[in-house]
Amino acid sequence: MGIIPDSAPKFRFDLRSDIVAPPSASVASAVIAAAGRHGEFGWRSDPIEQALERKVCQLLDKPAAAIFPTCTAANIAALVALGAASRTLIMDRSCHLMTNERAGLDWIARPRLQTFAQTVGSIDLSTCHDEPDAILCLENTHNRLGGAVLSADETNRAAQRAKASGWSVFLDGSRLWNASVASGESPAALAGPADLVSVSFNKGLGAPNGAAIAGNPDIVAAAAEAWRRVGGICRPSHVISAGGLAALDEIQCLKQDHELAREAAAAIAELPAFTVTRPQTNIVLVSAVGLGLSGEALATVLDRVGLGCLPFGPQHIRLVFHRGIPAGSAPLIAEIFRGIVSDDSPATRATSRPAIASDANRA
Ligand SMILES: Cc1ncc(COP(=O)(O)O)c(C=O)c1O
Repeated sequence: MGIIPDSAPKFRFDLRSDIVAPPSASVASAVIAAAGRHGEFGWRSDPIEQALERKVCQLLDKPAAAIFPTCTAANIAALVALGAASRTLIMDRSCHLMTNERAGLDWIARPRLQTFAQTVGSIDLSTCHDEPDAILCLENTHNRLGGAVLSADETNRAAQRAKASGWSVFLDGSRLWNASVASGESPAALAGPADLVSVSFNKGLGAPNGAAIAGNPDIVAAAAEAWRRVGGICRPSHVISAGGLAALDEIQCLKQDHELAREAAAAIAELPAFTVTRPQTNIVLVSAVGLGLSGEALATVLDRVGLGCLPFGPQHIRLVFHRGIPAGSAPLIAEIFRGIVSDDSPATRATSRPAIASDANRA
């Protein structure tokens, strides 16, 4: 028996997140080749890591970059380095930092918070009161707004308002590559107005793991140093860096995920029981409140019939499309949705229908 146990995949379609995207053949071979090499001992000294840092700088047009194991680590380290402990973070109330990373932020940086309500593609800061020395935190694409893209113009407008008040601008660009491919604007144009930006190499790009921040060299070094102190950096880093470096050559492949998301959304929307968002990128939000199903209940039913997804707030589930979902799957996915609303569906019968529940905040 090999060291990797054989097990049937739990889901026919695993749409819980793009972090489950398998690596492409070239990413997998880059990782295997690096794993067979000796990694450099020192911190930020491995030539593959340095090549990855240079590539991130070039793509985002920033002077410095550092690698982190996850985007959560990258975000929190970046905000610590920006001095969040003594500043106010101004952010959309449904952004990933607020909904998923808040506990870590509070634990490590204890920033003051001020929130606003963002809508798809637009930032309205008119409700924010002026705080000297705040940090405006943006997210592109925006996870909870269904993978919505923030254009370079809109990012610039928000950044100008921030700069006029003396604020810094931080961009959580975990899916910035998706925003770039969907909008046709370069990653550098989308990241330009931000002082510091984070990006991921996994998610749709399919590296096994890894993230980075890019921006001012002193701040980037301070973020990496803060994370080194808590044992959170990657060392040796050649394997994780090789995956990231190869994945960055495949940004344009994200187009296929977006196309599949559009096809699946259109096919599910033909079923009257479901309300479906029109995806700009690889994320589709579906609601079945018309059937009295909460997001949690709908996710449970779909789980039983082989479709993995996450409840997303009280009413919705989130479907995330990625390389692991074969092209042409949209009709099959819609068929699964059709199956769960048919009267004799065992999955629907077996489900007690909980009242619309509170937000699960799990993605
Ligand atoms: C917008 C956004 N930022 C940050 C993260 C955190 O990424 P990681 O899982 O690498 O910590 C996620 C995860 O999905 C995300 O959607």
